Amino acid sequence: MHHFIVIGNPISHSKSPAIHAAFACSVGLDISYNRQFCPNDFGSFKAVIEAFFHGGGVGANVTLPFKEMAFDICQEVGTLSKYAKNAGAVNTLAIKGGKLYGDNTDGRGLVADLVGRGVDLHDKTVAILGAGGATRGAILPLIQSSAVVSVFNRTLAKAQTLAQEFATQGITINAHGLDELTGHFDVIINATSATTTGQSLDLGGVSTDVAYDMMYGKPSAFLEHFNTAKQIDGMGMLINQARLSFELWTGRAVDLDKVVLDL
Ligand code: ATR
Repeated sequence: MHHFIVIGNPISHSKSPAIHAAFACSVGLDISYNRQFCPNDFGSFKAVIEAFFHGGGVGANVTLPFKEMAFDICQEVGTLSKYAKNAGAVNTLAIKGGKLYGDNTDGRGLVADLVGRGVDLHDKTVAILGAGGATRGAILPLIQSSAVVSVFNRTLAKAQTLAQEFATQGITINAHGLDELTGHFDVIINATSATTTGQSLDLGGVSTDVAYDMMYGKPSAFLEHFNTAKQIDGMGMLINQARLSFELWTGRAVDLDKVVLDL
């Protein structure tokens, strides 16, 4: 029996246990995967991580508000994947070579979902709205898929800082204010927190073939706005980031067509 947890605050509504149980079932593995609440402070989070792995835990997912803390702990005592380094955040913890290892599967989960839905990203124009952690994690996987990435953020300076940071790693992205969003993009991704907070976004006159909202489970004014485009919510990203974590931990490939999920 392999033991896994997802750590968050709040955590009671996390769908990760159901998703991972379905993956395990599809490959014939016996696992336990539980929700772990944690007080929102660094000391408590570190104590939970240490106790879990010292107790024989195999892998942990990390969700809000702990992704940056997990990054800091791995930087301090462990190692980080290039995706985690790039994102400045960790959503997947494991033990590798006797040390804590932090990865970030969110951005690759997004790209895998797009590709799985037949969206070609090669040389395609992708606009990402927002310049927070969600955007940061998506950039490297999108660039690796040969997309041309433009970030549009309400606060222009934040988008520009992000572009400068990526430029130092040889990654080119275009930075704009959200008020400059115009013309046509092959894909537009909403990585702002506007859907979560129920706020509307000023989407001006821009058009797209594919509208992707990283959020799920709530009505999205963003998706509704693009009613002639292919509309995708973040459920597939959630499932694919989980799949990539599961594959890292277990070494087993998951065929999503064989996974029975009732979320
Ligand atoms: P996350 O880590 O989930 O990406 P975040 O770091 O809080 O969350 O970033 C949220 C992003 O959503 C920010 O880019 C924010 O824009 P600002 O940098 O200008 O604050 C963006 N955002 C939130 N609400 C928004 C709204 N109503 N309209 C436009 N952008 C919004």
